[in-house]
Amino acid sequence: LRSVDGLLEVRLEAAQGPAEIGGRTVTVLAYNEGLPGPTLRLRPGDRLRVRLRNGLADLTNLHVHGLHVSPEGNSDNPFVMIEPGAAFDYDYRLPGDHPPGLFWYHPHHHGLVADQVFGGLYGAILIDDPEPVPVARERVLVISDLTPDGAVGVASAGQAERMRGREGRLVLVNGQLKPRIDIRPGERERWRIVNACVSRYLRLSLDGLGMQLLGLDSGRFETPRDVEEVLLAPGNRADLLVTAATSAGGATTPAALRALPYDRGSTGMGMGGMMGGGSGSSTRTVDLATVTVSGEPVAAASDVPRRAAERDLRGAGVTARRELAFAMGMGGGMGGGGMSFTINGEPFDGDRVDTTVQAGGVEEWLLSNSSPMDHPVHLHVWPMQLIERNGRVVQAAEWQDVVNVPAGGTARVRIAFDDFPGRTVYHCHILDHEDLGMMGVIDAR
Ligand code: C2O
Ligand code: CU
Ligand code: CU
Repeated sequence: LRSVDGLLEVRLEAAQGPAEIGGRTVTVLAYNEGLPGPTLRLRPGDRLRVRLRNGLADLTNLHVHGLHVSPEGNSDNPFVMIEPGAAFDYDYRLPGDHPPGLFWYHPHHHGLVADQVFGGLYGAILIDDPEPVPVARERVLVISDLTPDGAVGVASAGQAERMRGREGRLVLVNGQLKPRIDIRPGERERWRIVNACVSRYLRLSLDGLGMQLLGLDSGRFETPRDVEEVLLAPGNRADLLVTAATSAGGATTPAALRALPYDRGSTGMGMGGMMGGGSGSSTRTVDLATVTVSGEPVAAASDVPRRAAERDLRGAGVTARRELAFAMGMGGGMGGGGMSFTINGEPFDGDRVDTTVQAGGVEEWLLSNSSPMDHPVHLHVWPMQLIERNGRVVQAAEWQDVVNVPAGGTARVRIAFDDFPGRTVYHCHILDHEDLGMMGVIDAR
């Protein structure tokens, strides 16, 4: 669905319904009966109006992840609650200088986010790039995971699984199990990939194909970087150039998009025993899609033009410094069944403001993680420039809206609180952790 004359009007209905996954029918939650929901295509400066109808049995709402829009009123307001059977009219206005890239939408009602996203509620938002890259084809790949449960639909998660962050048994690409992607030899494609999994990290590799990274989240690099793999925490997006080598004789070369094992740590409980195993690690390689390179070779694509340098806050005057400490502890009892998930010692309370920032200021935040498990930290509305991770300085300007804070480690970011005063949230994007309380309220004024 594409904007026309600066406006895109969409109707979304969140409801339960059937989906064909790997040759069987699974009852999922979906937007407009699609897994994923429709891709919304916009340009900087556009207006997006969404009427969301809640056809679910529970409260829901809508969040436009990563968009730099107002957090107030009927824009990207995470405090909106839509009752079952009711509808809400959202109205988002993108600034004229909004960064291009892949963004996404998903529900954000505290306590139900992981269940609803795991159930199938997610979709992509593509903001056109004013500096297009010469490619044969562009693809949007929404990667998600779920566990089908014969009678019920999508399996629910137990206490221990929620504490470590649920991972689905099946990993889907655009709602399909292991789809096939066809490329011709010599062809270059642009793949924009979102990790819409509730908790699963995706350490992506592309065997048999050339891979270059153009950017992460809303950030773009000046020149593409050759990479062997790219790590996407839940919520992150990658903008990739994929090139198929020209093979002699036009033979078919099989290749694959894979997720390699990644150790994101454990809850520190259980030892595989009483809590049913505390590890959140993905210990196996998952084949996500098969890529077939076949057909007549095409001429190599022309060079990617150099991009304008990104904004860089490393030289900016910092108006405030603060620390956000992410912790998992025993005995909290805030729905964690004995384990609390906190930021600066507090579990989420929507009636409290945890962080008041000065609108227009530039802040430096130290995100620290005292737990034995990674937490991918996400801030709404304002992107974060990564300055340091575990004390190691990041050399280039890198902008992300989800920054992974490794187990027992730190990340230092700078944030410019431009354009939109208002109240919104930051949280761990392992959505089970968010639902268990690892979220705080920020007010910019
Ligand atoms: Cu994608 Cu507050 O989340
Ligand atoms: Cu978000
Ligand atoms: Cu977390």
